Amino acid sequence: MTDSTRIPQHVSIIMDGNGRWAQQRGLERWAGHVEGVNSVREVLSTAAKAGVEYLSLYAFSEENWNRSKEEVGSLMALMMKSMLSEIGHMDAEGVRFVVLGNRARLGDELNATIDDCMSRTAGNTKITMIIFLSYSGKWDILQAVRKIAAKAAADPSSVEDITMETMDGNLVTAGYPDPDLIIRTSGEQRVSNYLLWQGAYSEFYFTDVLWPDFREKEFMNALEEYSRRDRRYGKTK
Ligand code: IPE
Ligand code: IPE
Ligand code: MG
Repeated sequence: MTDSTRIPQHVSIIMDGNGRWAQQRGLERWAGHVEGVNSVREVLSTAAKAGVEYLSLYAFSEENWNRSKEEVGSLMALMMKSMLSEIGHMDAEGVRFVVLGNRARLGDELNATIDDCMSRTAGNTKITMIIFLSYSGKWDILQAVRKIAAKAAADPSSVEDITMETMDGNLVTAGYPDPDLIIRTSGEQRVSNYLLWQGAYSEFYFTDVLWPDFREKEFMNALEEYSRRDRRYGKTK
């Protein structure tokens, strides 16, 4: 049983290994993405049950636009389809649904659906699920710097007032807590341009399990491991 006092407030997951899951079964890559949606549903309900307040999922990186046109198209179509089919259930379960990332690169139809889902669930309080879509950590830092620089160009005296909090407040994650725990599935042990600023003191958990196989048991194992970590933030005990 996981110690409820050590439940992370914000768990973030780099959902990786869909393509390999499909290849292992002699299927096309998209079959792995489709099965991965079932993992999202199960992990979301497990996280809510465990008392996690924020669950964020890396669904598509800025670099993922460089995949084949077919794969990008099928991922965007799956995103749209899953939002439409899951939103009623999520709303009923008290899930606040949020999408963060470079929205300018998404199509109008997808953006409109995202806006609908976000406004429909904006008042829900059981758990917040953030989908990082067309997101990368360097892009986020860059767009924050541009906003801060524009302000500084108009008012040079404001440069002195730029603090860590100024950065926090201009990233797309402004207002959301930093991730306590970042999980990456599929055996890769790298950050792949994810939450570079926000993950400064996150605990990392790597597992060989591929995302479509990552379900309740695997999620609870990660929480269990997190509960044993000693977070020092550079200090001594
Ligand atoms: C993760 O699975 C999903 C996305 C990055 C969109 P992959 O598609 O990266 O699967 P692998 O890593 O090739 O197995
Ligand atoms: C990271 O997975 C991005 C997402 C899970 C959305 P990738 O499969 O794109 O990362 P690399 O290429 O292995 O670093
Ligand atoms: Mg991958």
